[in-house]
Amino acid sequence: MSDQPQVTLTIDGKSITVPAGTLVVDAARMAGVDIPVFCYHPKMEPVGMCRMCLVEIGRPLRDRATGEFVREEDGSIRVQFGPRLETACTVRVSEGMVVRTTTEKVLESRRSILEFLLTSHPLDCPICDKGGECALQNLTMAWGPGESRFFYEDKLHLAKRVPLGDLIILDRERCIMCARCIRFQRDVVDDPVLQFYHRGRYTDIITVSEPGFDSYWSGNTTDICPVGALTTVDFRFGARPWEMRPAASICSHCPVGCNLTFDVRREAASEGRFVVKRAMPRQNEWVNEIWICDKGRFAGYHFAEQPDRLTRPLIRKNGELVPATWEEALDLVALRFRTAQKLLTLVGGRLPNEDLYNLGALTEALGGTKALYTFMAGGDLVARLGLGAGHNLADLGQGDAILVVASDLEEEAPLWWLRTKQAAERGATLVVANPRPTKLERYARHVLRYAYGEEAATMAGLLEGESEAARALAQAENLVIFFGQEGADVLTSRALAAACARLLTETGHAGKPNSGLVGVWPRANDQGAWEQGFAPLDDWAEAFRQADALYIAAADPAGDDPALAQALERAGFVVVQELFLTETAKRADVVLPVQAVTERSGTFTSGERQVQRFYQAVPPVEGTRPDYRIAAEIAARLDVHLEGSSAARAFEAGLAVSVPAFARLTYVQLAEVVEQWPLLDRHDLYYGGTVYENKQGVGVALPNAAQRGEAVSVPEVAAPQRPAVNGLLAVPITRLYDRGALLTPSTLKVRLPARPFVVLGEAEARRLGLRHRSEATLVLHGTPYTVQVQVQAEVPEGVVLVPRSLGIPISGPTDVSLRAVEPALA
Ligand code: SF4
Ligand code: FES
Repeated sequence: MSDQPQVTLTIDGKSITVPAGTLVVDAARMAGVDIPVFCYHPKMEPVGMCRMCLVEIGRPLRDRATGEFVREEDGSIRVQFGPRLETACTVRVSEGMVVRTTTEKVLESRRSILEFLLTSHPLDCPICDKGGECALQNLTMAWGPGESRFFYEDKLHLAKRVPLGDLIILDRERCIMCARCIRFQRDVVDDPVLQFYHRGRYTDIITVSEPGFDSYWSGNTTDICPVGALTTVDFRFGARPWEMRPAASICSHCPVGCNLTFDVRREAASEGRFVVKRAMPRQNEWVNEIWICDKGRFAGYHFAEQPDRLTRPLIRKNGELVPATWEEALDLVALRFRTAQKLLTLVGGRLPNEDLYNLGALTEALGGTKALYTFMAGGDLVARLGLGAGHNLADLGQGDAILVVASDLEEEAPLWWLRTKQAAERGATLVVANPRPTKLERYARHVLRYAYGEEAATMAGLLEGESEAARALAQAENLVIFFGQEGADVLTSRALAAACARLLTETGHAGKPNSGLVGVWPRANDQGAWEQGFAPLDDWAEAFRQADALYIAAADPAGDDPALAQALERAGFVVVQELFLTETAKRADVVLPVQAVTERSGTFTSGERQVQRFYQAVPPVEGTRPDYRIAAEIAARLDVHLEGSSAARAFEAGLAVSVPAFARLTYVQLAEVVEQWPLLDRHDLYYGGTVYENKQGVGVALPNAAQRGEAVSVPEVAAPQRPAVNGLLAVPITRLYDRGALLTPSTLKVRLPARPFVVLGEAEARRLGLRHRSEATLVLHGTPYTVQVQVQAEVPEGVVLVPRSLGIPISGPTDVSLRAVEPALA
């Protein structure tokens, strides 16, 4: 920013210097001067449609003959104001400009615009969901005429409950035609599913997709809609903004780590309990800016409110799980752990850092093995060669490059898709390598196709500099490589991560803050687990069979795979810490009920290695305890000291002391905030929308190995043998909406696939005699599954894509057969 040319202007008597090209409306914001807007939004190009931002603008006058400034008698430069007001949202600053925002002429224009807008507005504020956080309501109170010259009876009446899709409702009367929603969908997220329809006073917002409002980003339009025209199905008529208390949190659904605010209220309808009423984005320009995807918004918290939460410890007696006291259960666990020869601790990547630390430290003290239950590997390399302290994807542009390999990024980590798209739009070279097309390719300068199984070899090929893409990557100033979940299993992704890491080191990109390797992990805190030395095992079933004590937290291997359920039954003593009685918990000897992310505090480490705090939103369900405390209580019985009194203590006295990447980090540092652009403030929500400003911390990016002064060498990892294929190669892929336990109870359930499906290419479908949406039988490891067939032209021949977490236990690329379901005999 500093070497950008600067311009000095005066706004309402205040002199301010801003970068050349800044819009007057933004310069005013920087100067602390309010210019009300409706259609303008700081994250979108201006359109100048609503005229709410009219101001008087004067410019230094030059003599036409000489080109010199005309001067007043006192020597100052004469400023000439035009006869008309100008829109502050479309005019860019210029040297010596003078802006007046509070003259009678300006105030009169505001009154007129508001009066005009209100002629066709229903004035149903007392029952409108936006009441209390409505830009139109607030600006009318601040600048409006006080009374109208129009007859209320003459108002136009339009439909008040028009579903634009399953999640968003339109109130036609309230729309003020600012087109923020249309522009967001078209320009920001490239899902142009909304449009204007009709003309004049009958102009209307319609959805042009089938199904309606078909986008993963729809909720954001309700934040930026300056009136109550767009509302979400989950919050509609749910509560008033002033009745709720905001609690800062982090989305726990993917590795991006979007900053959220849960709005909480205690209510009679929920038997006097505190409940989360909605999830809203919270600004973090290093992570999610001001956006969140619909999964984060509509599925953020409902799982925690389910009535079947575990509330008491259970221990197995005579083959049955029966309720027990905490003392009884913890004593039993400690007794069995004390004598265990082979303790295996298995954690899921949704466990926060503090809990991972305590479980890991206890395991190490007992000589056990700590493992991360996941289908992806390579996080050890990310811990060393990941993005470093000081990184921001928003800084990537001209001269930089991003490589995305084996990932359908919008499905796996939507905000990274958005930020990668934006980097490409700023001029960064985007290279997308995937066996089939994905939405990200629209912005790619180079697309690399390879066969499933050849991920690592394709990356190795780039090192040999054979293609234009290879040269672009090698010559880039900064290089970020995302490797993802497409066709991933532990062995494949381990080889892929190593090949990507080598590409970084051998092209001289290792160690730069804004260059590095990013794993597109399935869980929010997988990277946190890798940083602490947890890693997946190659053969889970064998590891289960060999363990004489299994300590499982936030993972459900038995629910994922019947083979693992069998192996678990042959394990020794099994302890499970869980929210629900999962298939794994059902097979345990001791089950310990834990607190959900909304009920406690803690931290997650994002895939970009940003450590971020989340805060308690609601009181915990009675009878539950946080995982870190349970581990500390077991440890205390085994004479191992661990901090269990609070997440902060576990972090500062445990993790920050023992794990080098987290060295000396404190909760206070994580809670530090810095000024962000755009400047948001919920008192002026006409500007940015109802997104929350960040008052609770933007987090801290961990240093990478080079920043820690450590040398990095990348091991040679051979890619696994491709499976022998007699029928079809089944390839696991990730879809944003699946039937995972955290999604099914949510508002999103209307969008979740009703049953398992697979995706085939056209040629393959023809060969097998299968049609789009027909039923088929997929035989995987000898077990038949009934699936719906979807046909998509772009799937390679010989391949069937099998989405994860839809009931088909596919753990990696494998051989399957697929045939039409035979019609039942009459
Ligand atoms: Fe603007 Fe809201 Fe109308 Fe969309 S629905 S045009 S965001 S007022
Ligand atoms: Fe400037 Fe609408 S015309 S905000």
